[in-house]
Amino acid sequence: MPFSLCCKTALVTGSGRGIGRAIAAKLAAAGASVMLNDLDEAALTETEASFRKSGYKIGHTIGDLTDPSMPDKLVQATLAKFGSLDIIVNNAGYSWDGVIQNTTDEQFLAMLEIHLLVPFRILRAASSYIRDAAKAEIAAGKTVMRKVVNITSIAGTDGNPGQAGYSSGKAGVIGLTKTLAKEWGRYNVNVNAVGFGLINTRLVQPLTGSDAKMEMHGHEIKIGVQPTMLESVKHACPLGRLGTPDEAAGAVLFFCSPLSDYVTGEVLICGGGFHF
Ligand SMILES: NC(=O)c1ccc[n+]([C@@H]2O[C@H](COP(=O)([O-])OP(=O)(O)OC[C@H]3O[C@@H](n4cnc5c(N)ncnc54)[C@H](O)[C@@H]3O)[C@@H](O)[C@H]2O)c1
Repeated sequence: MPFSLCCKTALVTGSGRGIGRAIAAKLAAAGASVMLNDLDEAALTETEASFRKSGYKIGHTIGDLTDPSMPDKLVQATLAKFGSLDIIVNNAGYSWDGVIQNTTDEQFLAMLEIHLLVPFRILRAASSYIRDAAKAEIAAGKTVMRKVVNITSIAGTDGNPGQAGYSSGKAGVIGLTKTLAKEWGRYNVNVNAVGFGLINTRLVQPLTGSDAKMEMHGHEIKIGVQPTMLESVKHACPLGRLGTPDEAAGAVLFFCSPLSDYVTGEVLICGGGFHF
């Protein structure tokens, strides 16, 4: 590693499985202390147990981030456990798809809530700590870079039929990213987004798969994609395959590391060259 994240504290939402778990593992392997979060207690417990075996410095906060009090609780729990907060990865998400005529207000708003409102609330909750810490560091003549990485999608940058809500939430978080980059540059915070193409997690499993549904706010939501769509994506993708969670996490690690200290307000697409 040309860098170490030793002495850094990271917070990764939705890190019980999938890409979030891979991001948390990469940050912890690079030396960071990592606060894990997920609403799925079983997934989070399993992730935590495997991370402890690797000797990673971790904590966890179980809970649904769409509860308006959770973002603040998560930030406070991170500060209470580790005493600092240097890296925030807004990763938690899911899809609730449908063509526009079949999409309810509740469904559309749920997508804006998890992909846009939750990252906004987390960053607002962290803002007092970040501003105070940066002011003290700058007064002491020190430059300490902090990192925010918001997770978006090629559905947000390109649009995707059947995903009016998801695409809107993922496009919205790019606006939040670019605005915060401008507000927080003076506090030495790099604020960037990573947009994924198709990454091999339960979100893109064949819709026929056994894990192809999740429970959210009393609804059973289908997750996954049509098997024919997976094949056509592989065909159209220059790299000819889906990405792995580990490969997805690599793009995020760049934005969490000193390698990106002079990059802010940008969107990096990690999708094997595929676009919708
Ligand atoms: N997999 C892909 O192809 C793909 C493509 C583009 C973008 N993304 C984005 O990447 C991120 C991670 O997706 P993934 O593929 O790893 O999915 P995943 O379903 O494997 O993991 C997402 C995790 O987020 C958690 N989560 C969801 N809502 C939450 C909430 N309200 N509070 C706390 N935790 C919550 C889930 O429980 C789950 O463990 C998401 O934001 C997703 O939209 C994924």
